[in-house]
Amino acid sequence: MHKREAIMKRAIYPGSFDPVTNGHMDIIRRSANIVDELYVGVLNNSAKNSLFSAEERVSMLEEMTADLPNVHIVSFDGLLVDFARKIHATIIIRGLRAVTDFEYELQIAQTNHVEYDQIETIFLTSSLQYSYLSSTIVKEFAAYGGDISHFVPTQLIDRIYQKYGIEKGEHHHEQ
Ligand code: PNS
Repeated sequence: MHKREAIMKRAIYPGSFDPVTNGHMDIIRRSANIVDELYVGVLNNSAKNSLFSAEERVSMLEEMTADLPNVHIVSFDGLLVDFARKIHATIIIRGLRAVTDFEYELQIAQTNHVEYDQIETIFLTSSLQYSYLSSTIVKEFAAYGGDISHFVPTQLIDRIYQKYGIEKGEHHHEQ
């Protein structure tokens, strides 16, 4: 009994979060209910062109998870397994949207497990209404002034449009 109580389950939910979507938020909330501590790991990859800097992505996620006391936002670079080891996380959380995600995710999960045998990947199936959603699609829509209000947290809408030089009120949603 005592032994069981002492085990704290710490997980990492890694991703680019460029920008964080309602689909990501759904996975964050649901996994925060399953594990004791959830670290959201923002990949800070200088080789990858991102719309938002790692600092911006971290602060947006901090704002969006302020009401979740067991969620911590961190950025990392290098290998995910190395970072997981460093923060003593034993679980990697990933969201699965459709069958198209499966092969790639399986490959990563299996490789990560070989690299670090203490780590297990847990997949949460995305809620149905987010199964089509991706940060890439959000950016594509936003770039053309399309309505992104169903895809991302309301507080972030204007920040995303601003990256494309679209000012408040100019985009579809507000017209
Ligand atoms: O949100 P994304 O872009 O699908 O997240 C991908 C991510 C960050 C989980 C993945 O690219 C990753 O873990 N990168 C860190 C480098 C690494 O460990 N690579 C090995 C697995 S591909």
